[in-house]
Amino acid sequence: MTRAVLESRDLKVTFGGVTALAGVDITCAKGELTGLIGPNGAGKTTFIDAVTGFLPSNTTGQVLLDGADVTGMPPHALAQLGLTRTWQSLELFDDIDVSANLAVASRSLTLRRAVKGMWKRDRSDRVDEVLEQFDLTGVRERLPRDLSLGQRKLVGIARAVVARSRIVLLDEPASGLDRKETAWLGDRLRAMIDGGSTLLLVDHDMDLVLSVCDRIQVLEFGVVIANGTPTEIRHDPRVGEAYLGEAAQVT
Ligand SMILES: Nc1ncnc2c1ncn2[C@@H]1O[C@H](COP(=O)(O)OP(=O)(O)O)[C@@H](O)[C@H]1O
Ligand SMILES: [Mg+2]
Repeated sequence: MTRAVLESRDLKVTFGGVTALAGVDITCAKGELTGLIGPNGAGKTTFIDAVTGFLPSNTTGQVLLDGADVTGMPPHALAQLGLTRTWQSLELFDDIDVSANLAVASRSLTLRRAVKGMWKRDRSDRVDEVLEQFDLTGVRERLPRDLSLGQRKLVGIARAVVARSRIVLLDEPASGLDRKETAWLGDRLRAMIDGGSTLLLVDHDMDLVLSVCDRIQVLEFGVVIANGTPTEIRHDPRVGEAYLGEAAQVT
C-alpha cells in the first residue's frame, strides 16, 4: 500500500451561500503525480487554497500531511512543513533575478539581504541544481519580467521545488504555454517524479494531464465524481459528460 503524503477528509469550503467543496476526500500518494481536473468553477483552486491554509474561516474537515493532522495551520507553517504550491497567477519577485527568486524560496537567501541588493553574491548548490533541472541556468541572472511566459512558469515551479517540499501543488502550470513548452513541462514533471518528488497537478490541458499523471481525480461542483488511472478516466462516461464535453467546447 502506497503512503499518502497529502490527504483531505470531508473537506468542505463555502463562500457565503456558495458551496465550493462539498466534502472532498482526496489522497496524493508518495512518489506519484496526482491529477486534479474538472470544469471551470469545480473547486480545484479552492482545494489547493484550503489544504495550504489560505481559507481558514471557510473550511471544515481534515487535512493530513504525511499522516499528521495539520488542519487549521497557517500557510507559512504548512510551507515550512513542506506543503508548497504555485499560483494560477504567477507570483514572482520581479526586481530580483531568477536565481535569487529561487534562493529566497530555498531560504539560502533572506529577504533582508535580497532587498539590500546582496542577492547577486548568494550562491547555493541547491539553487544551481534546480536551475539545471528546469533548464534555467542560461537565464539565472535575468529578471523574471524579461523572460517568456513559459520560462516564468518554470521559475514559479522551480521556486516551489527548491524548498525541498514533501509535495508541490501546481495550479494550472501549463496555462499560456504553447504545445512544445507544455510537452517539455510534462517531461520535467515526470523527471521530478522519477527523482522521488510527489506532485498534484491541476490543469485544463487534458493531453498533459492524461499523459503524465499516475492517478486522476475529477471534481464537479465541489464533488469528486471519478478517481482512477488515466485510462480509466478517459473511458469514464461521467467524466466525458462533466468535463471532456465542456473542455471541447471551451477550447
Ligand atoms: N474568494 C471567493 N469568494 C467567493 N466565491 C469564490 C471564491 N473563490 C472561489 N469561489 C467560488 O467557488 C467555486 C470554485 O472556484 P474555484 O476553486 O476557483 O474553481 P476552479 O479552480 O475549479 O476553476 C466557484 O463557484 C467560485 O465562483
Ligand atoms: Mg482555478
